[in-house]
Amino acid sequence: MREAACKDIYRGTAIMTAINEVTDLTVEGDVAVITLNSPPVNALSAKVRQGLYDGFKAAGADAAAKAIVLICDGRTFIAGADITEFGGAMKGASLPEVQDMMENSPKPVVAAIHGTALGGGLEVALCAHYRVAVPSAKVGLPEVNLGLLPGAGGTQRLPRIVGAQKALEMMTSGQHVPAKAALAMGLVDELAEEGKLRETAIAFAKKCVAENKPLVKVRDNNTKVEADRANPDIFANFRKANARKFRGFLAPEYNIRCVEAAVNLPFDEGLAVERKLFMELMTGSQSAAQRYAFFAERAAQKIPDVPDDTALIPVNKVGVIGAGTMGGGIAMNFANAGIAVTIVEVKQDALERGLSTIRKNYERTAARGGLTAEQVEERMGLISGSLDMNDLADKDLVIEAVFERMDIKKDIFTKLDAICKAGAILATNTSALNIDEIASVTKRPEAVIGLHFFSPANVMKLLEIVRADHTSKEVIATSMKLAKKIGKVAVLVGVCPGFVGNRILFQRQREAQKLVLEGAMPWDVDRVLYDFGFPMGPFAMSDLAGLDIGWVKEKSNGETIRDVLCEMDRRGQKTGAGYYDYDENRNAKPSPVTEKIINDFIVKSGRNPRKISDEEILERCIYPMINEGAKILEEGKAIRASDIDVVWEYGYGWPVYRGGPMWYGDQVGAAKVLEKMKEFQGAMGDDFKPSALLEKIVAEGKTFADL
Ligand code: 3HC
Repeated sequence: MREAACKDIYRGTAIMTAINEVTDLTVEGDVAVITLNSPPVNALSAKVRQGLYDGFKAAGADAAAKAIVLICDGRTFIAGADITEFGGAMKGASLPEVQDMMENSPKPVVAAIHGTALGGGLEVALCAHYRVAVPSAKVGLPEVNLGLLPGAGGTQRLPRIVGAQKALEMMTSGQHVPAKAALAMGLVDELAEEGKLRETAIAFAKKCVAENKPLVKVRDNNTKVEADRANPDIFANFRKANARKFRGFLAPEYNIRCVEAAVNLPFDEGLAVERKLFMELMTGSQSAAQRYAFFAERAAQKIPDVPDDTALIPVNKVGVIGAGTMGGGIAMNFANAGIAVTIVEVKQDALERGLSTIRKNYERTAARGGLTAEQVEERMGLISGSLDMNDLADKDLVIEAVFERMDIKKDIFTKLDAICKAGAILATNTSALNIDEIASVTKRPEAVIGLHFFSPANVMKLLEIVRADHTSKEVIATSMKLAKKIGKVAVLVGVCPGFVGNRILFQRQREAQKLVLEGAMPWDVDRVLYDFGFPMGPFAMSDLAGLDIGWVKEKSNGETIRDVLCEMDRRGQKTGAGYYDYDENRNAKPSPVTEKIINDFIVKSGRNPRKISDEEILERCIYPMINEGAKILEEGKAIRASDIDVVWEYGYGWPVYRGGPMWYGDQVGAAKVLEKMKEFQGAMGDDFKPSALLEKIVAEGKTFADL
């Protein structure tokens, strides 16, 4: 079948041989073209490896073929090893076998790249003698994002082309380098016109033959690494400069060690170091969690009752109500994606302030080199302001981002219902209010949805999409797609107080406060959570945000530690003191003042402060979060356990190398979480009441991942 179809395509000029289900070989003139077609991303599964191995063998044996081109069908060149196969038994040809055959081929091998050549995909391409790419292509070694390092020679070959410094940057960031930059770095040898990759690669291969071009083996090119050997400080400097960013992660350090090996050891010895470190990472807990997170993020995009082919509502014009921090940040997301947005405010000065904050944000990015002055103007040009809600009449989507009060929201939605065109999506950015109640004031509850952005809304990746009782499938599908377009990671959740993220956060906050009233100091709690991997602990976070958020001076009566701190004008970093004391560079120090306030509180409450272990702090803060996640699942407010983990990774800085609260719960073991919750419940009451689902999975010997 495949042969017949192909003969038809190349009518008389070439015959295609099917190598296996995913690879075929066509000899066109004196160039053999191996075409790989393994959707969705041509990942290096056993079938693909075997197809490539057999394809190169057949091309090598074909007397008519003087050169070989490797090209892929579909949306991309090989996007890496097949991550779904990791941890299983290796079948078929190995990747090094394929690579050896390419690199040692006596006929020139040209890789033709479109889409993304990532990880193992780039490592394959680096074993070709030459690489041709279309301008829209990107190349990179993103293994670090899966808690890994390039394990098919990439760590040794990349520095031999781009030098140690660039290799370190690429491998520890996982960045995708556009083809033009890759050409400048020597990773690509020629750019093909868009849409003309195949013919350009064949022409390049013919030129190799005609001009008897050398069979370049990257492994033999030592010029760059020898030069780097004279500059051993590269590595210490790189580690120091990135210490904060890499904190807690194993993979960046392992990637650095591999580049060190590339610089200091012969190729094959470097390869042995790479292999050993790759296996260590691959079998470790961090990579398991990061691979899980990769698939969790993708699973979250799938809504069981909203099929992929659900009709989408075109969204070309957006309205945002409220020019505050949230509204402004939300508007920026759309302008960044090239979508026109109108911000509506009630007062001219508030509108002007909001627009000028947006401009300042863009200009700050431009000053750091993130945008050109032209781009700033382009984006500002997409944002307009208005004091008239009637200007929202033609918008496809309106997002309300005003003060969190039900009466105000209801009033706005009543007006929107009267003003907005039929078919428009009416969204609220509420983080806590009942969206069904908001929707009830409209005659079109099917158009109402929650789009809960996280602050700062132009930076934070998470978007909780909140499905109310009547929200239509079209509105959900459109919101999910739109989220991707504006660079967000969307998770669909149900209506409940705090939705998924804040509902779970509440558990941690409550325990942190209680621990402090039992004898732990804020810096003890913060240290434990920071060491666990959070970017900062809850008290440092409060100081950063400002202790006076939601605090009303006139109503304050010293009832809580926060009240007392605020009354003393210790309102956080901005006043130089909060839970912590701060120096002029905003470095935090444990505060004797706070310590005294806390001790006075404890005495007043008639309790005896006790020494609280780090273990208890961690378990008290984290296990109730897992338990709350279980309640959320039980109530159907999240579709799957992994969705909760995505929320916590992207919205609250849960360390990705620990997967997320539910994944972590599975690693600790649901039985242990349950046992501890019961123990805490016995000692401290129903804040620790185990969820029925937690009890159930323990009784059935299951995990959250099994659900
Ligand atoms: N293995 C298995 N499946 C993969 C995959 C991979 N390497 N990369 C993507 N997929 C799957 C996704 O799970 C998704 O499946 P689904 O449709 O069932 O959910 C599908 O391909 C499409 O992926 P995306 O939704 O992410 O599509 P995008 O177009 O948004 O992005 C991409 C495409 C940029 C290629 C992105 O998928 C990506 O970044 N993939 C991972 C690339 C990577 O990390 N490569 C290195 C792998 S490790 C390695 O190579 C080790 C080696 O050194 C030995």
